[in-house]
Amino acid sequence: MRGLKDKVAIITGGIGDLGYATAKRLFEEGCKVALFDLKQSDAGLAKAIDALYIQVDISNEEAVKLACERVENELGPAQVLVNTAATFIFKGVDATEEDWQKINSVNIVGTSFVTRYTVPQMIKKGGGSIINFSSVSGFVGQRNFATYNATKFAIRGLTKCWAYDLAEHGIRVNTLCPGYIYTSAFVNSCKVLNLDIEEENKRASEMHLLNRQGQPEEVAAAAAFLASDDSSFITGSDLLVDGGYLAK
Ligand SMILES: NC(=O)c1ccc[n+]([C@@H]2O[C@H](COP(=O)([O-])OP(=O)(O)OC[C@H]3O[C@@H](n4cnc5c(N)ncnc54)[C@H](O)[C@@H]3O)[C@@H](O)[C@H]2O)c1
Repeated sequence: MRGLKDKVAIITGGIGDLGYATAKRLFEEGCKVALFDLKQSDAGLAKAIDALYIQVDISNEEAVKLACERVENELGPAQVLVNTAATFIFKGVDATEEDWQKINSVNIVGTSFVTRYTVPQMIKKGGGSIINFSSVSGFVGQRNFATYNATKFAIRGLTKCWAYDLAEHGIRVNTLCPGYIYTSAFVNSCKVLNLDIEEENKRASEMHLLNRQGQPEEVAAAAAFLASDDSSFITGSDLLVDGGYLAK
């Protein structure tokens, strides 16, 4: 893809399934990548893609500021930011104050902190691309998903407002909205809930026109497209990578 070679890219949630797949694809396209994650990285993961790994809680503003400064000092100013980090709390009307504070502080406020401290680096370089991860859950209601879906709707709102604010600096901002992706999180949640993985996969597959769950690499390819100059006239937009979930 055009325009990615030697660009510095920050990927939040970079140790997660979709974050790491995106970081790997950006590395393969020639980017220098920095992974932000709360989780301790297996040393081999970052090394395999020559990445700068920074353990940081994106809901802590001071820590985010320092992490972004470290990227600029060690790799140079970032021109790509992929916000995938999220916490997953699935509650309906029974959600508590603690639930709301926790999920909002990461999915909305944390995403805003990383963006806040990355944008000045993009301005220095004359432009950039920000990709915010929402979901099909940012478009529709789902039973007992109010907490999660509210944040995924909010991400689409942030994207459109930031696209307004940042266009004059040559910074494009878009939302990437996956359908159900076959990840280790999916497999683990089946195990935790004692559900049959094959049956659950079949149930999830049937929600999509393509009758399967997506693969992390399919999401990563779309993120790389939005990061690249091949999407140079796209901003304030939602890119669905959902196998036809929302077309049903
Ligand atoms: N997997 C799917 O099917 C799917 C579908 C639609 C949308 N999404 C979206 O894609 C994104 C990535 O999902 P995933 O499946 O890769 O999940 P994941 O759990 O594998 O990755 C999320 C990562 O975010 C990190 N994280 C959580 N809180 C953090 C914090 N406070 N600071 C820093 N890092 C933090 C986690 O440690 C984890 O590594 C999310 O925004 C999710 O809403 C996923």
